[in-house]
Order: sequence, then structure tokens, then C-alpha cells
Amino acid sequence: MANLMKEFFKQCARPEGFLGRIMLQFMNFGHAPLTNWGISQLTFQEKWTMLDIGCGGGATLKRLLKRSKGAKVYGIDISEESIAKAKRLNAGKLDTQVFLTQGSAAKLPYDDQMFDLVTAVETVYFWPDLPSCLQEVKRVLKPGCSFAILVEVIDKDSVWTKVVDGMTAYTPEELHTLLDEAGFIETKVYRKKPSYATIIGTKPLA
Ligand SMILES: C[S@@+](CC[C@H](N)C(=O)[O-])C[C@H]1O[C@@H](n2cnc3c(N)ncnc32)[C@H](O)[C@@H]1O
Repeated sequence: MANLMKEFFKQCARPEGFLGRIMLQFMNFGHAPLTNWGISQLTFQEKWTMLDIGCGGGATLKRLLKRSKGAKVYGIDISEESIAKAKRLNAGKLDTQVFLTQGSAAKLPYDDQMFDLVTAVETVYFWPDLPSCLQEVKRVLKPGCSFAILVEVIDKDSVWTKVVDGMTAYTPEELHTLLDEAGFIETKVYRKKPSYATIIGTKPLA
């Protein structure tokens, strides 16, 4: 039983196969409160081009689209299963308003200064070499535009970091510092009980 639970929670890091599909379904609903609250801290404009990194089953892409009329949203995830699920969920808008690619935050397959907003929901825990991933995020953002990190595991001793292999919890303060060190400015931290955190940094104009 313990092994099965461990196998299931492993799916958070990189969903695969049957258990991965169940986890993606669960996350699409389970992450709704954090995501809706987190993105409500942002002021959206029409026709934005946005990127959600570690998009999982694609629910955040739908939520972003609703907030910017005429927008385009790009989703990238390291997991083939996540991309397949995100494609099914966004089938009606695929390749017209929703664009999905399997790949890593470590090497984003997008042009410089392409996005008006980049989001990362419950995923930075798994990114390799976070400082270098933040440089990639900064590269693809337009000057003056923002990167929003949404997390709810912020305690290094969290049970989640024990049951999910390869998961690193960062405190909101650590994420703030990492954004500062990566050259983001005007970083803001928003908190909500029980442990929701949204950390938003902006790419400087010059
Ligand atoms: C806990 S899930 C969150 C999924 C989605 N953002 C949500 O809120 O439901 C973490 C996701 O990050 C993806 N991921 C892990 N490492 C990644 C990386 N280096 N680059 C891109 N995606 C990654 C996983 O495959 C998984 O789909």
C-alpha cells in the first residue's frame, strides 16, 4: 500500500501512464483554488500571448484564456502524458489559441521576448537548476512583463517533499531572492492561508 501511494505521488513530478492520467485529472481540479487566487493578483489585458510552464493537464491554460480576450496561450511540460491531457482538455482551441509542446523549463523552445506573461503553477519544485531556468523565463518575456510563480508547498519539512522524489520546497522569501538574483524587479509576494504563495517578478524595461 505504501509503495502504491509512493508510486502515485511520484506522478506529481512527471506524470506517466495510468496513474499519471489520474493524477493529472486530480491536479486540474485540486489546483483550481490556488491558481484562481494566484492569477487574480495579475492585471490582464486583451490579446496577450502567455506561457504556462509545467502546464500539466492544461487547466491553467483555460483559466488564462478566460482572462484575456483574443489571447494565445502556450503550454510546455516535460511529460508526454501531461501534454496529451492538456491537448484533450483544450481540443477546441488547439493550434489556433492554445499551443502545446513537450519540453523543459531548462531550455524553452520560444523566441526571445515573446510573452506578455509567464506562469508556473506547482512546478518549480521539480525544475533542475532553478536559477538557470529563471534566465530562460526572463529571455522569453517581453520587457516590462511578469513571471508569476504559484506554490503551496513552502515548508522544507513538508510531507510532500518526503513522498515525492526529487521535489524541492522553496519558501516564498527564497523565491523572491532567486527572482531578484535572476534580474527580475519589483518582485511581490502574496500569501493566503493555509500555505498559498504567489511570487511575481517583472522583467526590467532595459
Ligand atoms: C505538480 S504538477 C503541476 C501541473 C500543473 N501546473 C497544475 O497546476 O496542475 C508539476 C508539473 O510540472 C512538470 N514538470 C516537471 N519538471 C519540469 C520541467 N523541468 N520542465 C517543464 N515541466 C516540468 C511535470 O511533468 C508536471 O506536469
